[in-house]
Amino acid sequence: MFKIIGGHQLSGIVQASGSKNSALPLFAASLLTEDESIIENVPDLSDIQFMAEIIADLGAEVEKLDPNTWRINPKAIVHFAPYDLVRKMRASICLLGPLAARLGRAEIPMPGGCVIGNRPIDLHIRALESLGAKVELKGGVVQIDAANLKGASIFMGGRHGSTVTGTANAIMAASLSQGTTVLDGAACEPEIVDLCEMLTKMGAIIQGMGSHRLEIQGVSKLHGCHHRVIPDRIETATYAIAAGITNGEICIQGCQPKHLGAFANVMQECGMEMESSPDGNLSIKVSPGGLKPFEVITLPYPGFPTDLQAQTTALACVVPGLSILTERVYPSRFMHVPELLRMGAEISLEGSSAIVLGGKKLKGAPVMASDLRASAALILAGLAAQDETWVQRIYHLDRGYDQFETKLQALGADVERLPEEALPKSFIPQFE
Ligand code: EPU
Repeated sequence: MFKIIGGHQLSGIVQASGSKNSALPLFAASLLTEDESIIENVPDLSDIQFMAEIIADLGAEVEKLDPNTWRINPKAIVHFAPYDLVRKMRASICLLGPLAARLGRAEIPMPGGCVIGNRPIDLHIRALESLGAKVELKGGVVQIDAANLKGASIFMGGRHGSTVTGTANAIMAASLSQGTTVLDGAACEPEIVDLCEMLTKMGAIIQGMGSHRLEIQGVSKLHGCHHRVIPDRIETATYAIAAGITNGEICIQGCQPKHLGAFANVMQECGMEMESSPDGNLSIKVSPGGLKPFEVITLPYPGFPTDLQAQTTALACVVPGLSILTERVYPSRFMHVPELLRMGAEISLEGSSAIVLGGKKLKGAPVMASDLRASAALILAGLAAQDETWVQRIYHLDRGYDQFETKLQALGADVERLPEEALPKSFIPQFE
Protein backbone atom coordinates (compact mmCIF):
# COMPACT_ATOMS: atom_id res chain seq x y z
CA MET A 1 0.00 0.00 0.00
CA PHE A 2 1.16 3.57 -0.68
CA LYS A 3 0.40 6.45 1.66
CA ILE A 4 0.65 9.76 -0.16
CA ILE A 5 0.44 13.21 1.35
CA GLY A 6 -0.48 15.42 -1.56
CA GLY A 7 0.27 19.03 -2.33
CA HIS A 8 4.03 18.92 -3.01
CA GLN A 9 5.23 20.40 -6.29
CA LEU A 10 7.59 17.87 -7.85
CA SER A 11 10.89 19.09 -9.17
CA GLY A 12 14.24 17.64 -10.18
CA ILE A 13 15.70 14.93 -12.36
CA VAL A 14 14.48 11.38 -12.83
CA GLN A 15 16.17 8.59 -14.77
CA ALA A 16 14.06 6.63 -17.28
CA SER A 17 14.04 2.83 -16.93
CA GLY A 18 13.98 0.29 -19.73
CA SER A 19 10.66 -0.57 -21.32
CA LYS A 20 8.67 -3.43 -19.78
CA ASN A 21 6.68 -4.01 -22.96
CA SER A 22 9.89 -4.22 -24.96
CA ALA A 23 11.78 -6.43 -22.53
CA LEU A 24 9.04 -9.10 -22.22
CA PRO A 25 8.93 -10.02 -25.95
CA LEU A 26 12.75 -9.70 -26.09
CA PHE A 27 13.05 -12.39 -23.41
CA ALA A 28 10.74 -14.56 -25.55
CA ALA A 29 12.83 -13.79 -28.67
CA SER A 30 15.96 -15.07 -26.93
CA LEU A 31 14.43 -18.58 -27.18
CA LEU A 32 14.62 -18.53 -30.99
CA THR A 33 18.26 -19.68 -30.86
CA GLU A 34 20.33 -22.29 -29.02
CA ASP A 35 22.89 -19.60 -28.17
CA GLU A 36 23.17 -17.35 -25.17
CA SER A 37 21.89 -13.75 -25.26
CA ILE A 38 22.52 -10.85 -22.92
CA ILE A 39 19.77 -8.28 -22.48
CA GLU A 40 20.63 -4.95 -20.82
CA ASN A 41 18.60 -2.03 -19.47
CA VAL A 42 15.85 -4.42 -18.35
CA PRO A 43 13.55 -2.77 -15.78
CA ASP A 44 13.56 -4.41 -12.34
CA LEU A 45 9.91 -5.48 -12.20
CA SER A 46 7.78 -8.39 -11.06
CA ASP A 47 6.54 -9.02 -14.64
CA ILE A 48 10.16 -9.50 -15.73
CA GLN A 49 10.71 -11.88 -12.84
CA PHE A 50 7.62 -13.90 -13.92
CA MET A 51 8.88 -14.08 -17.50
CA ALA A 52 12.34 -15.18 -16.27
CA GLU A 53 10.70 -17.90 -14.14
CA ILE A 54 8.62 -19.16 -17.08
CA ILE A 55 11.66 -19.30 -19.36
CA ALA A 56 13.67 -21.06 -16.64
CA ASP A 57 10.81 -23.54 -16.22
CA LEU A 58 11.02 -24.26 -19.96
CA GLY A 59 14.61 -25.34 -19.30
CA ALA A 60 16.64 -22.24 -20.16
CA GLU A 61 19.51 -21.06 -17.97
CA VAL A 62 18.42 -17.64 -16.79
CA GLU A 63 20.69 -15.43 -14.72
CA LYS A 64 20.24 -11.87 -13.45
CA LEU A 65 23.77 -10.51 -13.79
CA ASP A 66 22.83 -7.22 -12.13
CA PRO A 67 19.45 -5.56 -11.41
CA ASN A 68 19.09 -4.58 -15.09
CA THR A 69 21.05 -7.19 -17.05
CA TRP A 70 19.99 -10.74 -17.81
CA ARG A 71 21.78 -13.67 -19.38
CA ILE A 72 19.56 -16.25 -21.09
CA ASN A 73 20.88 -19.55 -22.41
CA PRO A 74 18.00 -21.47 -23.97
CA LYS A 75 20.00 -24.41 -25.40
CA ALA A 76 17.78 -27.13 -23.93
CA ILE A 77 14.15 -26.03 -23.71
CA VAL A 78 10.83 -27.85 -23.83
CA HIS A 79 7.72 -26.69 -25.68
CA PHE A 80 5.19 -26.46 -22.84
CA ALA A 81 4.77 -23.76 -20.21
CA PRO A 82 2.96 -24.38 -16.89
CA TYR A 83 -0.41 -22.75 -16.19
CA ASP A 84 0.60 -21.61 -12.68
CA LEU A 85 3.22 -19.24 -14.07
CA VAL A 86 1.56 -18.29 -17.36
CA ARG A 87 -1.70 -17.20 -15.71
CA LYS A 88 0.18 -14.50 -13.79
CA MET A 89 1.05 -12.60 -16.93
CA ARG A 90 -0.65 -12.20 -20.30
CA ALA A 91 2.61 -11.35 -22.03
CA SER A 92 3.61 -15.02 -21.75
CA ILE A 93 1.56 -15.40 -24.93
CA CYS A 94 4.70 -14.02 -26.66
CA LEU A 95 6.27 -17.46 -26.15
CA LEU A 96 3.93 -19.06 -28.72
CA GLY A 97 5.80 -17.81 -31.79
CA PRO A 98 9.35 -18.60 -30.61
CA LEU A 99 8.52 -22.08 -29.25
CA ALA A 100 6.54 -23.02 -32.37
CA ALA A 101 9.25 -21.75 -34.72
CA ARG A 102 12.25 -23.23 -32.92
CA LEU A 103 10.82 -26.53 -31.63
CA GLY A 104 8.04 -27.15 -34.18
CA ARG A 105 5.43 -27.26 -31.42
CA ALA A 106 4.19 -25.22 -28.49
CA GLU A 107 1.72 -25.67 -25.65
CA ILE A 108 0.79 -22.55 -23.73
CA PRO A 109 -2.21 -22.27 -21.40
CA MET A 110 -4.71 -19.73 -22.72
CA PRO A 111 -4.15 -16.54 -20.71
CA GLY A 112 -7.00 -15.81 -18.32
CA GLY A 113 -9.41 -12.88 -18.13
CA CYS A 114 -8.09 -9.41 -17.64
CA VAL A 115 -9.49 -6.51 -15.69
CA ILE A 116 -8.80 -3.99 -18.49
CA GLY A 117 -11.21 -5.82 -20.80
CA ASN A 118 -11.58 -8.78 -23.11
CA ARG A 119 -8.19 -9.71 -24.54
CA PRO A 120 -8.62 -12.46 -27.14
CA ILE A 121 -5.71 -14.10 -29.00
CA ASP A 122 -7.48 -14.82 -32.32
CA LEU A 123 -5.08 -12.59 -34.28
CA HIS A 124 -2.03 -14.42 -32.85
CA ILE A 125 -3.58 -17.74 -33.89
CA ARG A 126 -4.64 -16.47 -37.33
CA ALA A 127 -1.05 -15.38 -38.02
CA LEU A 128 0.45 -18.72 -36.94
CA GLU A 129 -2.16 -20.66 -38.96
CA SER A 130 -1.32 -18.54 -42.02
CA LEU A 131 2.29 -19.67 -41.60
CA GLY A 132 1.05 -23.28 -41.74
CA ALA A 133 0.70 -24.14 -38.05
CA LYS A 134 -2.15 -26.35 -36.84
CA VAL A 135 -3.69 -24.81 -33.75
CA GLU A 136 -6.06 -26.49 -31.29
CA LEU A 137 -7.45 -25.44 -27.93
CA LYS A 138 -7.54 -28.47 -25.57
CA GLY A 139 -8.37 -28.20 -21.88
CA GLY A 140 -7.63 -24.49 -21.90
CA VAL A 141 -4.22 -25.01 -23.51
CA VAL A 142 -3.30 -23.63 -26.94
CA GLN A 143 -1.55 -26.51 -28.72
CA ILE A 144 0.44 -25.74 -31.82
CA ASP A 145 1.88 -28.15 -34.34
CA ALA A 146 4.27 -26.12 -36.44
CA ALA A 147 6.52 -28.69 -38.06
CA ASN A 148 6.85 -26.85 -41.38
CA LEU A 149 6.26 -23.13 -41.16
CA LYS A 150 6.22 -21.38 -44.53
CA GLY A 151 6.20 -17.66 -45.30
CA ALA A 152 2.79 -16.12 -46.09
CA SER A 153 0.96 -12.86 -46.57
CA ILE A 154 -0.80 -12.00 -43.31
CA PHE A 155 -3.11 -9.14 -42.31
CA MET A 156 -2.48 -8.33 -38.61
CA GLY A 157 -5.38 -5.91 -38.01
CA GLY A 158 -8.46 -6.59 -35.90
CA ARG A 159 -11.55 -4.73 -34.67
CA HIS A 160 -9.45 -2.49 -32.44
CA GLY A 161 -6.55 -2.00 -34.83
CA SER A 162 -3.28 -3.86 -34.96
CA THR A 163 -2.13 -6.19 -32.19
CA VAL A 164 1.21 -5.50 -30.50
CA THR A 165 2.12 -8.91 -29.05
CA GLY A 166 0.33 -10.64 -31.96
CA THR A 167 2.65 -8.79 -34.36
CA ALA A 168 5.61 -9.79 -32.14
CA ASN A 169 4.58 -13.46 -32.34
CA ALA A 170 4.14 -13.30 -36.12
CA ILE A 171 7.54 -11.64 -36.65
CA MET A 172 9.32 -14.14 -34.39
CA ALA A 173 7.68 -17.17 -36.05
CA ALA A 174 8.25 -15.77 -39.57
CA SER A 175 11.95 -15.21 -38.85
CA LEU A 176 12.51 -18.98 -38.69
CA SER A 177 9.94 -19.94 -41.40
CA GLN A 178 10.84 -20.97 -44.93
CA GLY A 179 10.51 -18.19 -47.49
CA THR A 180 9.14 -14.65 -47.25
CA THR A 181 6.38 -13.37 -44.97
CA VAL A 182 4.62 -10.07 -45.50
CA LEU A 183 2.76 -8.61 -42.52
CA ASP A 184 0.25 -5.89 -43.40
CA GLY A 185 -1.47 -3.83 -40.73
CA ALA A 186 1.41 -4.73 -38.42
CA ALA A 187 1.77 -2.88 -35.11
CA CYS A 188 4.53 -0.26 -35.37
CA GLU A 189 4.99 0.53 -31.66
CA PRO A 190 8.60 1.37 -30.68
CA GLU A 191 8.62 -1.94 -28.77
CA ILE A 192 8.03 -3.79 -32.05
CA VAL A 193 10.89 -1.88 -33.68
CA ASP A 194 13.09 -2.82 -30.70
CA LEU A 195 12.17 -6.48 -31.21
CA CYS A 196 13.04 -6.23 -34.93
CA GLU A 197 16.38 -4.64 -33.99
CA MET A 198 17.22 -7.50 -31.63
CA LEU A 199 16.11 -10.14 -34.16
CA THR A 200 18.27 -8.47 -36.82
CA LYS A 201 21.27 -8.76 -34.47
CA MET A 202 20.35 -12.46 -34.15
CA GLY A 203 20.50 -12.88 -37.93
CA ALA A 204 16.87 -12.26 -38.98
CA ILE A 205 16.18 -10.36 -42.21
CA ILE A 206 13.41 -7.81 -41.70
CA GLN A 207 12.44 -4.88 -43.90
CA GLY A 208 9.99 -2.07 -43.20
CA MET A 209 10.78 -1.65 -39.47
CA GLY A 210 8.62 1.05 -37.90
CA SER A 211 5.97 0.79 -40.63
CA HIS A 212 2.67 -1.12 -40.87
CA ARG A 213 4.13 -3.38 -43.57
CA LEU A 214 6.95 -5.72 -42.63
CA GLU A 215 8.69 -8.12 -44.96
CA ILE A 216 10.54 -10.98 -43.26
CA GLN A 217 12.87 -13.29 -45.12
CA GLY A 218 12.95 -16.53 -43.12
CA VAL A 219 16.33 -18.02 -42.16
CA SER A 220 17.11 -21.55 -40.94
CA LYS A 221 19.00 -20.52 -37.81
CA LEU A 222 19.39 -17.50 -35.54
CA HIS A 223 22.25 -16.82 -33.13
CA GLY A 224 22.67 -15.17 -29.73
CA CYS A 225 23.14 -11.44 -29.30
CA HIS A 226 23.72 -8.58 -26.90
CA HIS A 227 20.87 -6.08 -26.81
CA ARG A 228 19.91 -2.97 -24.86
CA VAL A 229 16.18 -2.39 -24.20
CA ILE A 230 14.74 0.99 -25.26
CA PRO A 231 13.55 3.43 -22.55
CA ASP A 232 9.98 3.03 -21.29
CA ARG A 233 7.81 5.64 -23.04
CA ILE A 234 4.83 4.97 -20.73
CA GLU A 235 6.98 5.53 -17.64
CA THR A 236 8.40 8.75 -19.17
CA ALA A 237 4.92 10.05 -19.91
CA THR A 238 3.74 9.14 -16.40
CA TYR A 239 6.49 11.39 -14.92
CA ALA A 240 5.52 14.13 -17.40
CA ILE A 241 1.97 13.91 -16.03
CA ALA A 242 3.38 14.00 -12.47
CA ALA A 243 4.98 17.36 -13.37
CA GLY A 244 1.66 18.66 -14.72
CA ILE A 245 -0.58 17.40 -11.93
CA THR A 246 1.65 18.93 -9.20
CA ASN A 247 2.45 22.10 -11.18
CA GLY A 248 6.11 21.13 -10.91
CA GLU A 249 9.08 20.94 -13.24
CA ILE A 250 10.76 17.63 -14.03
CA CYS A 251 13.62 16.59 -16.28
CA ILE A 252 13.49 12.95 -17.43
CA GLN A 253 16.94 11.69 -18.39
CA GLY A 254 17.77 8.83 -20.72
CA CYS A 255 14.32 8.75 -22.32
CA GLN A 256 13.30 8.75 -25.97
CA PRO A 257 11.02 11.81 -26.49
CA LYS A 258 10.30 10.89 -30.12
CA HIS A 259 8.52 7.74 -28.91
CA LEU A 260 5.84 9.81 -27.17
CA GLY A 261 3.76 10.18 -30.36
CA ALA A 262 0.35 11.78 -29.83
CA PHE A 263 0.95 12.08 -26.08
CA ALA A 264 3.35 14.98 -26.69
CA ASN A 265 0.70 16.83 -28.75
CA VAL A 266 -1.97 16.34 -26.11
CA MET A 267 0.37 17.65 -23.40
CA GLN A 268 1.06 20.77 -25.47
CA GLU A 269 -2.69 21.25 -26.11
CA CYS A 270 -3.17 20.93 -22.35
CA GLY A 271 -0.68 23.72 -21.62
CA MET A 272 2.46 21.79 -20.75
CA GLU A 273 5.82 23.02 -22.05
CA MET A 274 8.05 20.18 -23.19
CA GLU A 275 11.61 20.59 -24.32
CA SER A 276 13.75 17.71 -25.47
CA SER A 277 17.46 17.46 -26.17
CA PRO A 278 19.12 15.09 -28.64
CA ASP A 279 20.85 13.22 -25.80
CA GLY A 280 17.50 11.94 -24.50
CA ASN A 281 16.51 14.51 -21.87
CA LEU A 282 12.96 15.77 -21.63
CA SER A 283 12.11 18.81 -19.49
CA ILE A 284 8.49 19.42 -18.72
CA LYS A 285 6.53 22.08 -16.80
CA VAL A 286 3.19 23.86 -16.92
CA SER A 287 3.27 26.91 -19.21
CA PRO A 288 2.60 30.37 -17.67
CA GLY A 289 -0.92 30.28 -19.21
CA GLY A 290 -1.82 27.28 -17.00
CA LEU A 291 -3.52 24.00 -17.85
CA LYS A 292 -6.36 23.83 -20.41
CA PRO A 293 -8.93 21.10 -21.01
CA PHE A 294 -8.17 18.58 -23.75
CA GLU A 295 -9.55 15.69 -25.76
CA VAL A 296 -7.92 12.29 -26.09
CA ILE A 297 -8.73 9.23 -28.19
CA THR A 298 -6.62 6.15 -27.54
CA LEU A 299 -5.33 4.41 -30.66
CA PRO A 300 -2.45 2.16 -31.68
CA TYR A 301 0.93 3.92 -32.07
CA PRO A 302 1.62 6.69 -32.95
CA GLY A 303 -1.85 7.49 -31.60
CA PHE A 304 -2.44 8.23 -27.92
CA PRO A 305 -1.53 5.06 -25.90
CA THR A 306 -4.26 3.27 -23.98
CA ASP A 307 -1.56 2.67 -21.34
CA LEU A 308 -1.67 6.41 -20.53
CA GLN A 309 -5.43 6.89 -20.49
CA ALA A 310 -5.87 6.31 -16.73
CA GLN A 311 -2.99 8.63 -15.75
CA THR A 312 -4.24 11.32 -18.17
CA THR A 313 -7.74 11.00 -16.69
CA ALA A 314 -6.19 11.82 -13.29
CA LEU A 315 -4.54 14.88 -14.85
CA ALA A 316 -7.88 15.98 -16.38
CA CYS A 317 -9.34 16.05 -12.85
CA VAL A 318 -7.12 19.03 -11.94
CA VAL A 319 -7.51 20.89 -15.26
CA PRO A 320 -10.27 23.52 -15.09
CA GLY A 321 -12.99 22.76 -17.67
CA LEU A 322 -14.33 19.77 -19.57
CA SER A 323 -11.91 17.14 -20.88
CA ILE A 324 -12.95 14.02 -22.78
CA LEU A 325 -11.00 10.76 -22.93
CA THR A 326 -12.24 8.06 -25.32
CA GLU A 327 -10.95 4.46 -25.31
CA ARG A 328 -10.69 2.79 -28.71
CA VAL A 329 -8.26 0.02 -27.73
CA TYR A 330 -9.89 -1.37 -24.54
CA PRO A 331 -13.38 0.20 -24.47
CA SER A 332 -14.01 -0.74 -20.83
CA ARG A 333 -10.62 0.24 -19.34
CA PHE A 334 -12.10 2.63 -16.77
CA MET A 335 -11.65 0.78 -13.45
CA HIS A 336 -9.81 3.82 -12.07
CA VAL A 337 -12.86 6.07 -12.50
CA PRO A 338 -14.91 4.92 -9.45
CA GLU A 339 -11.76 5.31 -7.32
CA LEU A 340 -11.14 8.85 -8.62
CA LEU A 341 -14.80 9.62 -7.78
CA ARG A 342 -14.01 8.64 -4.17
CA MET A 343 -11.42 11.42 -4.23
CA GLY A 344 -14.01 13.99 -5.27
CA ALA A 345 -13.43 13.92 -9.04
CA GLU A 346 -16.36 14.76 -11.31
CA ILE A 347 -16.34 12.17 -14.07
CA SER A 348 -19.19 10.62 -16.02
CA LEU A 349 -18.75 7.56 -18.16
CA GLU A 350 -20.62 7.62 -21.48
CA GLY A 351 -19.97 4.40 -23.41
CA SER A 352 -16.23 4.23 -23.88
CA SER A 353 -15.64 7.90 -23.01
CA ALA A 354 -14.83 9.52 -19.68
CA ILE A 355 -16.11 13.08 -19.47
CA VAL A 356 -14.19 14.92 -16.79
CA LEU A 357 -15.19 18.23 -15.29
CA GLY A 358 -11.89 19.23 -13.74
CA GLY A 359 -10.54 22.00 -11.59
CA LYS A 360 -11.95 21.14 -8.15
CA LYS A 361 -9.30 20.18 -5.57
CA LEU A 362 -9.13 16.38 -5.18
CA LYS A 363 -9.46 15.03 -1.64
CA GLY A 364 -7.33 12.21 -0.27
CA ALA A 365 -9.11 8.89 0.38
CA PRO A 366 -8.39 5.17 0.63
CA VAL A 367 -8.59 3.81 -2.93
CA MET A 368 -8.02 0.44 -4.57
CA ALA A 369 -5.71 -0.15 -7.54
CA SER A 370 -7.23 -2.56 -10.09
CA ASP A 371 -4.39 -2.82 -12.61
CA LEU A 372 -0.98 -1.44 -13.40
CA ARG A 373 -1.90 1.83 -15.10
CA ALA A 374 -4.85 2.47 -12.76
CA SER A 375 -2.39 2.24 -9.82
CA ALA A 376 -0.22 4.93 -11.38
CA ALA A 377 -3.30 7.11 -12.01
CA LEU A 378 -4.40 6.89 -8.36
CA ILE A 379 -0.91 7.72 -7.09
CA LEU A 380 -0.77 10.74 -9.43
CA ALA A 381 -4.18 11.84 -8.16
CA GLY A 382 -2.89 11.42 -4.58
CA LEU A 383 0.06 13.70 -5.34
CA ALA A 384 -2.38 16.47 -6.26
CA ALA A 385 -4.95 15.80 -3.54
CA GLN A 386 -5.52 17.46 -0.18
CA ASP A 387 -4.56 15.32 2.84
CA GLU A 388 -3.72 11.63 2.75
CA THR A 389 -4.43 9.15 -0.04
CA TRP A 390 -3.98 5.42 0.62
CA VAL A 391 -3.58 3.34 -2.53
CA GLN A 392 -4.16 -0.33 -1.80
CA ARG A 393 -3.14 -3.42 -3.87
CA ILE A 394 0.03 -1.75 -5.01
CA TYR A 395 1.43 -5.08 -6.28
CA HIS A 396 -0.12 -4.11 -9.62
CA LEU A 397 2.26 -1.13 -9.74
CA ASP A 398 5.31 -3.31 -9.12
CA ARG A 399 4.56 -5.18 -12.35
CA GLY A 400 5.41 -2.14 -14.46
CA TYR A 401 7.02 0.83 -12.68
CA ASP A 402 10.66 0.43 -11.68
CA GLN A 403 11.28 2.00 -8.22
CA PHE A 404 8.28 4.29 -8.51
CA GLU A 405 8.22 5.50 -4.92
CA THR A 406 12.01 6.02 -4.77
CA LYS A 407 11.93 8.09 -7.95
CA LEU A 408 8.91 10.11 -6.75
CA GLN A 409 10.53 10.71 -3.34
CA ALA A 410 13.68 12.04 -5.07
CA LEU A 411 11.42 14.52 -6.89
CA GLY A 412 10.00 15.73 -3.57
CA ALA A 413 6.84 13.64 -3.27
CA ASP A 414 5.65 12.51 0.15
CA VAL A 415 5.04 8.84 -0.71
CA GLU A 416 5.57 5.91 1.60
CA ARG A 417 5.21 2.16 1.03
CA LEU A 418 3.46 0.46 3.95
CA PRO A 419 2.01 -3.00 4.60
CA GLU A 420 -1.70 -3.32 3.67
CA GLU A 421 -2.54 -3.72 7.42
CA ALA A 422 -1.30 -0.17 8.06
CA LEU A 423 -4.56 1.31 6.71
CA PRO A 424 -6.09 3.25 9.63
CA LYS A 425 -9.05 1.41 11.20
CA SER A 426 -11.27 4.45 10.65
CA PHE A 427 -11.04 3.77 6.88
CA ILE A 428 -12.08 0.12 7.14
CA PRO A 429 -15.87 -0.28 6.85
CA GLN A 430 -17.25 -1.81 10.07
CA PHE A 431 -20.20 -4.20 9.62
CA GLU A 432 -22.26 -5.11 12.67
N1 EPU B 1 -7.03 -8.02 -29.92
C1 EPU B 1 -7.87 -8.89 -30.56
N2 EPU B 1 -7.39 -10.13 -30.90
C2 EPU B 1 -6.11 -10.51 -30.63
C3 EPU B 1 -5.26 -9.60 -29.99
C4 EPU B 1 -5.74 -8.35 -29.63
O1 EPU B 1 -9.03 -8.58 -30.82
O2 EPU B 1 -5.74 -11.63 -30.99
C5 EPU B 1 -7.52 -6.69 -29.54
C6 EPU B 1 -7.43 -6.45 -28.04
O3 EPU B 1 -8.55 -6.97 -27.36
C7 EPU B 1 -7.31 -4.94 -27.97
C8 EPU B 1 -6.51 -4.62 -29.22
O4 EPU B 1 -6.67 -5.74 -30.09
O5 EPU B 1 -8.60 -4.37 -28.11
C9 EPU B 1 -5.05 -4.36 -28.98
O6 EPU B 1 -4.49 -5.40 -28.21
P1 EPU B 1 -2.98 -5.83 -28.35
O7 EPU B 1 -2.90 -7.23 -28.83
O8 EPU B 1 -2.23 -4.81 -29.11
O9 EPU B 1 -2.50 -5.81 -26.84
P2 EPU B 1 -1.37 -6.72 -26.23
O10 EPU B 1 -0.34 -6.97 -27.25
O11 EPU B 1 -1.97 -7.88 -25.52
C10 EPU B 1 0.16 -4.75 -25.45
C11 EPU B 1 0.72 -4.25 -24.15
C12 EPU B 1 -0.40 -3.66 -23.31
C13 EPU B 1 -1.05 -2.53 -24.09
C14 EPU B 1 -1.54 -3.05 -25.46
C15 EPU B 1 -2.10 -1.95 -26.35
C16 EPU B 1 2.58 -5.74 -23.82
C17 EPU B 1 3.20 -6.83 -23.02
N3 EPU B 1 1.35 -5.37 -23.46
O12 EPU B 1 -0.79 -5.76 -25.10
O13 EPU B 1 0.23 -3.12 -22.15
O14 EPU B 1 -2.14 -2.00 -23.38
O15 EPU B 1 -0.45 -3.68 -26.16
O16 EPU B 1 -1.15 -0.99 -26.60
O17 EPU B 1 3.19 -5.22 -24.73
C18 EPU B 1 0.34 -2.37 -19.93
O18 EPU B 1 1.57 -2.24 -20.09
O19 EPU B 1 -0.27 -1.89 -18.93
C19 EPU B 1 -0.44 -3.08 -20.93
C20 EPU B 1 -1.63 -3.60 -20.69
